[in-house]
Amino acid sequence: MSKKDVVHTTESEIAVHWQEEELYYPSVDFIAQANLTDTSVHERFKLDNFPECFKEYADLLSWYKYWEKTLDTSDAPCWRWFVGGELNASYNCIDRHLEKNRNKTAIHFVPELLEERTQHVTYQELWVRVNEFAALLQDFAGLKRGDRVTIHMPMCAELPITMLACARLGVIHSVVFAGFSGKACADRIEDSQSRVLISMDAYYRAGKLLDHKVNADLACEFAQGMGQKVDKVLLWERYPGKYSSSAEMIGGRDYSVNTLLKEYYGQRVEPERMKAEEPLFLMYTSGTTGKPKGCQHGTGGYLAYATATSKFIQDIHPEDVYWCAADIGWITGHSYIVYGPLSLGASTVIYEGVPTYPDAGRCWRIAQDLGVNIFHTSPTAIRALRKLGPEEPAKYDFSFKHMTTVGEPIEPAVWKWYQQEVGKGKAVIVDTYWQTETGGFLCTTIPGMNPMKPGSCGPGAPGIHPIIYDDQGEILGAGAGKAGNICIQNPWPGCFQTIWGDRDRFVETYFGRYNKDPESTDWRDWPYLTGDAAFQAEDGYYRVLGRIDDVINVSGHRLGTKEIESASLATAEVAEAAVVPVKDAIKGHVPDLYISLKPGITPSPEIAQKVSDTVCKEIGKIAKPKSVWIVADMPKTRSGKIMRRVLASISNEQDVGDVTTLMNPDIVAEIKEQHLKGSK
Ligand code: PRX
Repeated sequence: MSKKDVVHTTESEIAVHWQEEELYYPSVDFIAQANLTDTSVHERFKLDNFPECFKEYADLLSWYKYWEKTLDTSDAPCWRWFVGGELNASYNCIDRHLEKNRNKTAIHFVPELLEERTQHVTYQELWVRVNEFAALLQDFAGLKRGDRVTIHMPMCAELPITMLACARLGVIHSVVFAGFSGKACADRIEDSQSRVLISMDAYYRAGKLLDHKVNADLACEFAQGMGQKVDKVLLWERYPGKYSSSAEMIGGRDYSVNTLLKEYYGQRVEPERMKAEEPLFLMYTSGTTGKPKGCQHGTGGYLAYATATSKFIQDIHPEDVYWCAADIGWITGHSYIVYGPLSLGASTVIYEGVPTYPDAGRCWRIAQDLGVNIFHTSPTAIRALRKLGPEEPAKYDFSFKHMTTVGEPIEPAVWKWYQQEVGKGKAVIVDTYWQTETGGFLCTTIPGMNPMKPGSCGPGAPGIHPIIYDDQGEILGAGAGKAGNICIQNPWPGCFQTIWGDRDRFVETYFGRYNKDPESTDWRDWPYLTGDAAFQAEDGYYRVLGRIDDVINVSGHRLGTKEIESASLATAEVAEAAVVPVKDAIKGHVPDLYISLKPGITPSPEIAQKVSDTVCKEIGKIAKPKSVWIVADMPKTRSGKIMRRVLASISNEQDVGDVTTLMNPDIVAEIKEQHLKGSK
């Protein structure tokens, strides 16, 4: 749609101003080796063949007992997949590979410090270590099937070992991102009623050894205050045999795993035969309001979905070296570092530290040294790498056949840099749209079959049938020229089963909006609400604009923050952009724009003007930023997401709240100072 066709919308609609991008096609070489090129997939996975189509996915797993019913809808909308089947996730990710591949590397662990060596953990060693740790959990910690355990660990080989040991016993793990505070960890301990916390003494980030045990102490203290006592803290040591924290070990509560493990050397634990629908793990995610939601993922459905999408969308083959640079503390790491790749018997890379330590070439050196050929990361990381070292990828001898982007909409300008510089013009890219709740991909291209369109995630993944509704429940079809609420019409095996301990919130949040009959046990009556705004182009590809709550309402005209940011990034000097709403007496809200510049570029009023002009040109005057603030850096979370909330508070002269957990808290004061001085 060109800017001349700007659609004037009602309050309930979202305008779409984005230009259509040209298509990119996968190379002949990629197609020749791809796992999925059979066009009958569309027929097999069409809605008429639902739910039996997903049998193909479950057949990728090894079952102790085959299931009787593919989908049981009797407890709608808490769907139960592969009912009657029995399996174990740890068996599927380890034991079943031993016969043919016991000496193959399962995990390449790359420590952050350059002087430390990469560890290569074979499937045999993974099996030994998971068994021994499972024996410890069972024996020493008294854990059994159905218990919950909170894991607050950094990126290290011991994290998947811990998760898989839990899975072997049928213990439900709840991994908390290591960058989260002790308090955030305590909230999750309390909600999941964990009485065991598994942590690590320390880890490296940006060249510093961070003391992590202090967070375990805080977590236990806060959890106790909330009425949940932690009986045992099991601490892995970053350097086995050497305790690296300043915090005291508390007698009777804290134990060194590395010391205890000696008692369990040589022990083996039979995997529990889990029912397909028994929970495998909880993953907490924050909603717009209220406490974090514990998304409960089941064993059979989740593992089938993570495995199949890893095979068909990530295109993982046994000989590939696959690196997903997300953190295992997020769902991406669960599905696409641990469960999917290991279930396929692949070699998966785990990197301890920040992608730009000690310099912007680090990722590309890791890729070169390990022979990584599939790379998976987020637009935030891609922007950071582009900002700090646009020329770096060309300096290293690596070759990706396939790359992924995940987590937020990617601006076409950034996509093109990724494709050209990192993919060296030949890698395919999948822009995978999904959520913590969904377990695996919702929308993506099939890499060996569909062309790519920068900024657009593509059609629904096989067996996923998206639909866009406006606020009145009318369908906005392909080429409607308007965005609305993107929903999924049908259940799929990867979808979470419920919010831990809060079924009502689950039903209300995800199904309440468009449910046709609360008594119905027909899945057709229960479209799943993603909470995202999206539109569908004429060719059927979806473009996600962001969370429905992330729109800025200017004079009743709802603008997606992402499209303003994307327009700003089209200006050559701009490295990062963030837009936030500022209250305006007349228009309701107007956008305030923050940008940071590429290295070596000096801020000037001309650049600010140029960006403002581009936004007006690309989107229209309606989106004209109130101000363009050129900042040295954006306030960011530890996972690298820009904290628009903090910027919004500054723009609206409100209290920014607690910013101590940010990656770069000092920048907040600096930006405030800029506001006071009015220096843009
Ligand atoms: O708004 C969508 C955005 O991230 C949200 C889910 O975040 P989270 O649960 O943390 O999971 C992130 C990893 C799957 C979505 O509701 N999002 C995720 N991927 C994309 C995206 N937006 C646009 N394009 C994507 N590829």
